[in-house]
Amino acid sequence: MLPYRGDRRRQCCAALSPVSDFFDTRRVLLDEHLAAIGRRAAAPAPLRPVLASALSSRGKRVRGLLLLAVGEACGARAEKLIDGAAAIEMVHTSSLILDDLPSMDDAELRRGQPTVHRLFGEDLAILASIALLNQAYGLVARSHAVARPRRWSLQQLVQRLVDAVGWDGTIGGQSVDLHSEASALDFPTLEFIHSRKTGALFVAAAAIGGMLANTNEATLCRFEVFAKNLGLAFQITDDVLDVTADAEQLGKDVGKDVDRLTFVKLAGLDGARKLSEELVETSLAAIASLGPAAEPLRELALTVRDRTR
Ligand code: IPE
Ligand code: IPE
Ligand code: MG
Ligand code: MG
Ligand code: MG
Repeated sequence: MLPYRGDRRRQCCAALSPVSDFFDTRRVLLDEHLAAIGRRAAAPAPLRPVLASALSSRGKRVRGLLLLAVGEACGARAEKLIDGAAAIEMVHTSSLILDDLPSMDDAELRRGQPTVHRLFGEDLAILASIALLNQAYGLVARSHAVARPRRWSLQQLVQRLVDAVGWDGTIGGQSVDLHSEASALDFPTLEFIHSRKTGALFVAAAAIGGMLANTNEATLCRFEVFAKNLGLAFQITDDVLDVTADAEQLGKDVGKDVDRLTFVKLAGLDGARKLSEELVETSLAAIASLGPAAEPLRELALTVRDRTR
């Protein structure tokens, strides 16, 4: 496991530009790329509208933007990274479709619209989820062929995604999330679930961004520590918002965690908020020495810290 704790000195927030068009421009690029993949999907009629809808729904794109910000901090151009960023967002969207199913969280609302299974039926929702996941691996392979990083083989890139999604990644985390007893409410169990169901994909996004940009192993490790802490903070805030926000604000159901193990149940609302802030501080410390090129990543971390949706 990567360490959570490191140098926890508070970063100099005053140096951060509050107004940056970095994320606005990258978000448009990513949204358009995903929507185009949806429009061009050579899928038969029953599946095509499901994919188009899933790929054009309005997510925050945090994981794809993380990949772009890491890759660009390492000197690559966004155009060379965009397939990789789209792949990460497709994996994420795939996981949300499954997470929302009646047999899992039984959710009605996602990204401000009815969940995929409510719009198109459970059968097509499951097939679309698997199709998105499958296509994502193809996109990662294509992004490697475009970027041609000397230090990192395609096998190494793909393995990062396999580790993030697979039986010890998102899927493993979701399985424990759905099958844990209330009596298992302790820090190690929560850390196990959250770091897998959410943190693992953050780590893969950062790793793949750095690898596509041909960064070295030591620098890659810094980005992975950054992403691991940020991913855990992100899920803890998600648990807080499940209790404190409303469905209109989030664009998804709230109050869904009554039968789940959450950091809010373990530490209370204030304790969970504090822990999330500490994790963001730790993530910032991991990239403190990386200079101005990492500025968008610092901005991303503060956005995660302060998010209300
Ligand atoms: C929701 O993720 C699932 C979690 C891991 C908490 P996001 O809050 O990033 O969802 P979208 O992509 O913006 O819809
Ligand atoms: C799910 O966590 C994380 C995933 C891997 C999809 P949640 O169940 O808390 O996510 P939301 O609140 O439905 O977005
Ligand atoms: Mg869930
Ligand atoms: Mg859910
Ligand atoms: Mg949640």
